[in-house]
Amino acid sequence: MPKITIIGSGAVGATAAQRIAEMELGDIVMTDIVEGLPQGKALDLAEAGPLRGYDSKVTGTNDYKDIEGSDVVVVTAGIARKPGMTREDLLKINGKIIREVSHNIARYAPDSIVITVTNPLDLMTYVMMNATGFEPRRVFGMSGVLDSGRFATFIAMELGCSVRDISAMVLGGHGDTIVPLPRFTTVSCVPITELMSKDTIRRLVDRTVIGGAEIVNLLKTGSAYYAPSAAIANMVEAVLKDTKRVMPVCAYLEGEYGLRDIYLGVPVKLGRRGVEKVIELELAPEEKKSLDRSAEAVKSGIASIKALG
Ligand code: NAI
Ligand code: 2OP
Repeated sequence: MPKITIIGSGAVGATAAQRIAEMELGDIVMTDIVEGLPQGKALDLAEAGPLRGYDSKVTGTNDYKDIEGSDVVVVTAGIARKPGMTREDLLKINGKIIREVSHNIARYAPDSIVITVTNPLDLMTYVMMNATGFEPRRVFGMSGVLDSGRFATFIAMELGCSVRDISAMVLGGHGDTIVPLPRFTTVSCVPITELMSKDTIRRLVDRTVIGGAEIVNLLKTGSAYYAPSAAIANMVEAVLKDTKRVMPVCAYLEGEYGLRDIYLGVPVKLGRRGVEKVIELELAPEEKKSLDRSAEAVKSGIASIKALG
């Protein structure tokens, strides 16, 4: 059985553990800085096994030694965005947490694939790659799968069609500068640009851009976790089952899209080796401009991280 570690057993981590157990992708180790929390949630999830019919073992620990031999490590440790707080506000606190976590991953799970979830996502993934010292293909972030799921949801609501027929593409940084791509978003292979007016598409794009904040404002405490955990589970499945599925992932760019030394949401082929290929779409000038704008925002965040030391 593959071994999947989830670091941070809060809302996103625990729900991801539940989905991964129910999909029987492997045995799961949950960790957290809070004593008892991962043990309690893991035991609860283990006790759901006979009822839901899964054999995945779920255990909880506060000791990094227990993550030894992990095939995949999902990192959700950190604080969640509160109303009125931007992802960038989280930079300082979560940056420190990610550095600490990454040193432990490098020490105890040196051969693992790491999926970062903690916000600000693109920046935390950059910190993770640098602090673990892992090859970039083994460190990537969850953002575009969630953002494209949100876009697909709003399209299905608008058209009254099944979400199953929608293939949505959202690129860019996970923040206010995400880049939903209507031209590459289809319903049963028909681009939505042929199915909806420009104004309608604009409205759905705008809602997607603030998708995370919409949930934060409704919940008042904490942020989304059902859709984020679903996105994590899909990515873990693509890696462990070596499916080679193409999905938008926060990946390290080394010249693709004309960008270097940056983590940004782009379509990739995901498999057992991690990011096996970055897919370069032929972007129209306006789309490329939006991606560049997004890259600029992430670059300035990277500069802030470097300034913070
Ligand atoms: P949460 O507050 O429910 O859980 C976070 C957990 O991390 C807590 O249990 C906390 O004790 C733990 N933690 C804090 N410091 C730690 C450390 N040094 N070592 C180990 N564990 C530590 O938050 P939630 O809702 O689970 O969100 C987690 C993170 O994921 C946040 O940064 C949030 O913004 C981000 N997020 C990112 C998404 C994305 O699309 N990339 C989507 C949803 C959330
Ligand atoms: C989201 O998009 C908070 O990044 C998180 O829901």
